[in-house]
Amino acid sequence: MRLDTAQLLKRFFFCERSLVVSEASWIPAIASLDVKIGLARFIWQSAETADALRNRVFELRFPSRLLEEQGADNALIQLFSAVKDSPSVPAFLIGVGKVLLPALRDSYRAYMESSDSIADGPTHRFLSLALSEKKEQISTFEKWGNDALEQNSELREGALNWAQAIANRLLEVGGVGVGPASPAAGGGRLPGSKTYVVPERPARDPRFWACRFYWPDVVDPNYPYGEGVQLQLRSAISHLNEVWAIEVGGVMLSAFADVLPWEWIHNAARWTYDESRHCRMGYERLMAWGFDIAEIPLGTYIYDSASGEDPIYCLGMLFFFETKNIKHKPARAKLFHTYGDTLSEHDMDFDWADETMHAGYGKHWLKELLAARGEDPAAYDQVRERCEKLVRDYVGTATGHEVADIKKVADALLVKAEQVLKVGSDIPPARLPAR
Ligand SMILES: [Fe+2]
Ligand SMILES: [Fe+2]
Repeated sequence: MRLDTAQLLKRFFFCERSLVVSEASWIPAIASLDVKIGLARFIWQSAETADALRNRVFELRFPSRLLEEQGADNALIQLFSAVKDSPSVPAFLIGVGKVLLPALRDSYRAYMESSDSIADGPTHRFLSLALSEKKEQISTFEKWGNDALEQNSELREGALNWAQAIANRLLEVGGVGVGPASPAAGGGRLPGSKTYVVPERPARDPRFWACRFYWPDVVDPNYPYGEGVQLQLRSAISHLNEVWAIEVGGVMLSAFADVLPWEWIHNAARWTYDESRHCRMGYERLMAWGFDIAEIPLGTYIYDSASGEDPIYCLGMLFFFETKNIKHKPARAKLFHTYGDTLSEHDMDFDWADETMHAGYGKHWLKELLAARGEDPAAYDQVRERCEKLVRDYVGTATGHEVADIKKVADALLVKAEQVLKVGSDIPPARLPAR
């Protein structure tokens, strides 16, 4: 019936919402670049599903104030939120991938089978997409979990125990399912849980050349951003190093999930996903040009600059860098066109469209956050200014060794770039629509 349907969709909404928050918070703690990029995409998928669920609940004339609380599903939602306190990376990946995602997949499938595709057609459309996304998420998490266990075999037992603890609790609280909510209480902390803390420094993929400052111009104002091949390379390195924006996006999404309204999570998930696409653009361009991963610098300085600060400066950092760099992008896209580098041009053009939207998100949510804290929303520009100072101060800690090292790495890349980039670079067929 209409209200029971709304009750179930509301349950799914809260499950997806909790998954988004937990997954986002783990992005900086996981080293693998593929996992960071993949998680950003999955939180966006979950946020889109959650948003569609939420809108559908409103359409069903469910009393809207009831969407502000988890109600009878409280114990279940507490469990979905508890994976944020996973004891390790493999434990997190296995707990989500082996227990929570399959539970949601099965519930979506059961819902589709037992609900009316005529009366409830609008739900069927987006839930069938969510179901197919869940299947992909599960198989991807399985691979990530296995890789993480292989690399950290000493964590195996703890991770498997953790997944079992989640499965046991899920059973106690009646599963996700499509039945009435279980009267079970939450049951407190899960055995083996470890309170989540935002990592002080971001985990980095060991395949890259690890550093704090990823290009000489960051630490040396006299080092040119460059033109021609130098600009093509610099731009790809910049895109790859937007990994900081994925991490900071995840941290801020989760930090303000309970302070700001749902639209915050929805926007922040999209924002984080967009940054992951920019990062991947750079990564794939560098790979297409034939560079060796081990010679590509992957830095941490922007994440580090906001580390330990009030998370409003995470939001501020994104806003600061979006608004600082956006004006250069259309001009660079044009230059790439003149070089015959259609791939860089194409990436920069799409990037610009995303960043324009993000600058709007930044201003809007900084103001909302300040207002929610009882402060003057007009002070958003002061947050931006402090971010500029935090970065400047942090860059000031660069050592002579670091500056010399990054120059050596950049010079070697430039020599190689001169050889491979002269001929321009076409968009690979895999990234274009089929004709
Ligand atoms: Fe970006
Ligand atoms: Fe952005």
